[in-house]
Amino acid sequence: MSAVESKTDRAPLISIRDLKVHFDLGGGGVLDKLLGGKPEKRVVKAVDGVSLDIYHRETLGLVGESGCGKSTLGRAILRLTEPTSGQVIYRDRDLAHLSERQLREERRHLQIIFQDPYASLNPRMTIGQIVGEPLETFRLARGREAEERVQELLETVGLSKRFIKRYPHEFSGGQRQRIGIARALAVDPDFIVADEPISALDVSIQAQIMNLLEKLRREKHLTYLFISHDLRAIRHVSDRVAVMYLGRLVEIADAKTIYHEPLMPYTKALISAVPVPDPQIEATRQRIVLEGDVPSPINPPSGCPFHTRCPYAIDVCKEVVPQLVQIKPSHFAACIRISPSQPNIEDVAPGDAPGLESGVGQVR
Ligand SMILES: Nc1ncnc2c1ncn2[C@@H]1O[C@H](COP(=O)(O)OP(=O)(O)O)[C@@H](O)[C@H]1O
Ligand code: SF4
Ligand SMILES: [Mg+2]
Repeated sequence: MSAVESKTDRAPLISIRDLKVHFDLGGGGVLDKLLGGKPEKRVVKAVDGVSLDIYHRETLGLVGESGCGKSTLGRAILRLTEPTSGQVIYRDRDLAHLSERQLREERRHLQIIFQDPYASLNPRMTIGQIVGEPLETFRLARGREAEERVQELLETVGLSKRFIKRYPHEFSGGQRQRIGIARALAVDPDFIVADEPISALDVSIQAQIMNLLEKLRREKHLTYLFISHDLRAIRHVSDRVAVMYLGRLVEIADAKTIYHEPLMPYTKALISAVPVPDPQIEATRQRIVLEGDVPSPINPPSGCPFHTRCPYAIDVCKEVVPQLVQIKPSHFAACIRISPSQPNIEDVAPGDAPGLESGVGQVR
């Protein structure tokens, strides 16, 4: 069964199907040849065939090293970045193919919170104007009513309503993130992409913002795509976690399972890099150190994109592209060296690729 076909009793709020975002960097033209440049066209495959269901009221964590395509995926779902192909089904409509006008109507329900709240808040606008702007844009409230709504929103995110006439530079990083959250909430959304919302904050403030997001999710029945390169942060806020590598999803399971029983060599390596608070366990902890950086998405490795860094790679991994399939109930992975009957890669005989027989791989 593929990840796409995985059904639980919950209905998905958003269904993403074979979504691709390729950035054309040019090259390959006559001028390139004349100037002695590389003859081939350069295309960044930032998101390369992602299929995923995001269920009502869940927090889906999206984790992976910097540059693997997390932000691009989050932005493409909201169509802040134009997808190259694929579908994003939300309330029976394909966001990826809506006209600008239709998209504007849906945008209200789909919001984003950014990593750097300062960069995303206009320094020349007061907090009242920033938080109130979406109310005006979507004609939800005006004048006194809008002001009252903004005051209410500030209080909801733990800020004093007296701040309404102040400017972003007068606030701390944590307070600015609260302002960003208030602005996202102004339109009463269903779905929020939280793109590294705590990565720029002091550790002491991170927990406060995570608690706030969790409280809001419960009270306002929100659904989150919570993006982070930090597995620790993801683990505590997410119901399920999707692991991304070079534009593809390589593992999806509930947060506890991802953390305690990961199947993919890549996920195991990410987890082994997370320090354990207990000093005794920390001293004896086994670490899988990944060699080298994430390869360039311009010329990704053939076959399994992880083969250049995978400690379990065998020759066939260079040729076969693993598909994301169900290995255990509600646990999906993309590795040809495991299968539902042999889910633990450590137990697989040297050189064996049991996933090939069960259709995990696809020659490309
Ligand atoms: N507008 C763009 N044009 C060209 N390349 C881009 C653009 N946006 C992102 N990329 C590239 O796409 C890849 C994924 O980027 P991004 O989604 O920001 O990764 P992440 O959020 O996981 O760090 C990177 O190689 C990045 O350089
Ligand atoms: S398919 Fe091969 S290279 Fe890819 S994760 Fe599995 S063992 Fe490693
Ligand atoms: Mg990013």
